[in-house]
Amino acid sequence: MRSVNIGICGLGTVGAGVFNVLGRNSNSINSRANCEIGVTQVGARRDNPGCDTSGTDVSRDIFDVAKNPEIDIVVELIGGTTVALDLVMTALQHGKHVVTANKALIAAHGTEIFAEAESRNLIVAFEAAVAGGIPIIKALREGLSANRINWLAGIINGTTNFILSEMDSKGRDFADVLNEAQEKGYAEADPTFDVEGIDAAHKLVIMASLAFAMPLSLDGIFTDGITKLEPQDVSYARELGYAIKHLGIARQTPEGVELRVHPTLVPEKCLIAGVNDVSNAVMVNADAVGTTLFYGPGAGSEPTASSVIADIIDVARTMASSPDSWVPALGCASSALQEQKIMDIQDIETSFYIRFSALDQAGVLSNVTKIMGDAGISIEAIIQKEQPAGEEYVNVIILTNVTKEKFLDEAVTYIEQLETVRGSVNFIRVEHLDQ
Ligand code: HSE
Repeated sequence: MRSVNIGICGLGTVGAGVFNVLGRNSNSINSRANCEIGVTQVGARRDNPGCDTSGTDVSRDIFDVAKNPEIDIVVELIGGTTVALDLVMTALQHGKHVVTANKALIAAHGTEIFAEAESRNLIVAFEAAVAGGIPIIKALREGLSANRINWLAGIINGTTNFILSEMDSKGRDFADVLNEAQEKGYAEADPTFDVEGIDAAHKLVIMASLAFAMPLSLDGIFTDGITKLEPQDVSYARELGYAIKHLGIARQTPEGVELRVHPTLVPEKCLIAGVNDVSNAVMVNADAVGTTLFYGPGAGSEPTASSVIADIIDVARTMASSPDSWVPALGCASSALQEQKIMDIQDIETSFYIRFSALDQAGVLSNVTKIMGDAGISIEAIIQKEQPAGEEYVNVIILTNVTKEKFLDEAVTYIEQLETVRGSVNFIRVEHLDQ
């Protein structure tokens, strides 16, 4: 049987998972890959008590792995975009195929990495970069390749979904849940990437590139996190029959491509509204198949290792064949990728949930509804919450019909100027995900 030697760079949460699962399931992995896959070397600054590397060559210098003449596939699991880029380029320049779980690296530098790999007849695989254990890259690149994809929308950050679920179901405190997500190894090294939507933006860019055959680029993507979300909005949304989920949405429209990451109200009856904890889910709407839903664990050691190892098996099997028969990294030849206009958030149409605090007196709501009417915004529902004893102000919640964000912004500015309204007007975008 042919041997394929791999080198693992990085022995953190995912690296340890890859090492352990490769050891545990080696027989079935080898028979699926039709070769004998062995870990020839590990590159890691420090040991991980979660995996026993005794008997394996461990170097403290990851570049030893990238240059090791014995190694066929370098598995990059160090994260980040500086040393990781250097490592991946070094590995390619030394004739190694690369498997990576690094979404930031692929989103920001995928174009140059794939070009380098293509010029050397090497493969770069990145299934674990998006949605942890869900094989969404393969699905978009190969499973749905007959389709014209209209839109995709997903919960693509496990940490934020874990935080939102715990806040919603148990009323837990944001910081406390984030701490637990870090302990469980779900969060990024810098958790700001999770809670501010940056990690989701990286993943969305990768999926959009596969879905719409456009080059990878972070330019123009609208990104908002969950840090400004207030617990009262989570419970008001529930009262209205919605869950608040942090979604990445990519949609092909005649005006361009929408690329946006933000907290979103989704109807409770929509399957994605029931996706909780560290789970991810991606809905894909396409012309031939209709709507599909991909669901599973979005982060964590072995779920992510599952995707990394699927790539290792794929590469180990494929590398023996002619490069002409390989599936290109983004599903079509790089020369076939076409730039598309990314829409400004101001021009994107959605429905909105609005909350503000207003004096409980006659005429206040009619002023607000007049402003909305003048901006061409139609109201779907309006609720005035009961006022606590001794409080002159009440919370008002409005659900709008679909409108452009710039019209909503205009109305919000006027509402905030009303003397009867206190403080700022908060809004959250609403998606029904039904067409
Ligand atoms: N921090 C990421 C998340 C890890 O929480 O989804 C998986 O990409």
